[in-house]
Amino acid sequence: MKTFNKDIPYNDLPLLPPKADLETTKILKKVITSSRILSQLNGAITNLPNPQLFLDTIHLQEAKASSEIENIITTNDNLYQSIVANKKIENSATKEVISYKEALWYGLEQLEEKPFITTNLCVEIMQRIKQNSSNIRTTPGTTLSNVDGEVIYTPPSGEQIIRDKLENLENFINIESNLDPLITMALMHYQFEAIHPFSDGNGRTGRILLLLYLKMAKLLDIPAIYLSEYIITNKAQYYTNLRLVTENENWEDWIIYMLDMVESTAKKGLERLEEILSLMEKMSGQIKEKLPKIHSKELIEILFRLPYTKRQHLIDAKFGTPKTVGNYLIALEENGFLKSIKLGKEKLYLNHNLMAILEK
Ligand SMILES: Nc1ncnc2c1ncn2[C@@H]1O[C@H](COP(=O)(O)OP(=O)(O)O)[C@@H](O)[C@H]1O
Ligand SMILES: [Mg+2]
Repeated sequence: MKTFNKDIPYNDLPLLPPKADLETTKILKKVITSSRILSQLNGAITNLPNPQLFLDTIHLQEAKASSEIENIITTNDNLYQSIVANKKIENSATKEVISYKEALWYGLEQLEEKPFITTNLCVEIMQRIKQNSSNIRTTPGTTLSNVDGEVIYTPPSGEQIIRDKLENLENFINIESNLDPLITMALMHYQFEAIHPFSDGNGRTGRILLLLYLKMAKLLDIPAIYLSEYIITNKAQYYTNLRLVTENENWEDWIIYMLDMVESTAKKGLERLEEILSLMEKMSGQIKEKLPKIHSKELIEILFRLPYTKRQHLIDAKFGTPKTVGNYLIALEENGFLKSIKLGKEKLYLNHNLMAILEK
């Protein structure tokens, strides 16, 4: 019996696990290829001399794309300048992207202490993204519409119903099952979005959960993956596949979509990592040659932690007095390694070659 009606709160949303066949040949084949590349990415990152080095940048890229899916749009320059500069952030989209990144870090930190994804954690993440104190929806009226404004889905309504479904989801995620963790992750994301527990922030919270889950399931020790890059370029399919699970119990296409997201972003992540590492090596060699007194491994790392840097970063890393490090940066700019911009009273230095790789 079909109980779904797009205009009526879907209180009959089935609990997890679904009754469908979740281990079709097509799915299992994709599990193999996506897991393989994911573990390559994991190895490449954990084997880096400093595995945390690129994490801020990767998470800011993720925050930017995940927010962009919700039409919260900023530029890389504005985002990184806001992170690095002392100046107050005026752009509201940039602020929201930075809140997203902080919410992600909060989630990862919580996971270190308690390796569970709970309803409470989801609420705390959403509150950090939204910078408010709202909670699970209590009033009816939340609907999802397509670009033409037509209602396509009405999520469950009633606080207790929502909480019960979240509890089922929580148990499903945290209790060992026979399913491959990547399949579990795909089911989790659909279910979270279908429950749609909040009046806003569901998409972003749900995508943060993906990274938390990869860490929790020990698929990535350091969740340095930029999953939303896939969704932003395959956005129509994202919405269609979510809808088709609800309307037709079409789990296969949804799971394949999520596995393809993992596979293709892990692959891109590996390629980008290679590119950045080889740029680092090249720049290091050139700086050593042209500015041997300035060169050090630590300096190169500072120039690659974020695409922008400033004097204070070098002072904090004990490179010398403001005057000394100021001269370092000037020399680096004169030799074409960095480009400076003035932002209020501050001068920021852009590693433009690194930015070019990020913007590819
Ligand atoms: N048909 C659908 N069924 C369930 N969830 C959907 C559907 N279409 C879109 N979504 C999810 O809803 C999210 C948008 O919800 P919203 O609360 O506005 O999130 P945010 O505020 O983070 O943008 C989308 O990113 C997507 O994950
Ligand atoms: Mg929204």
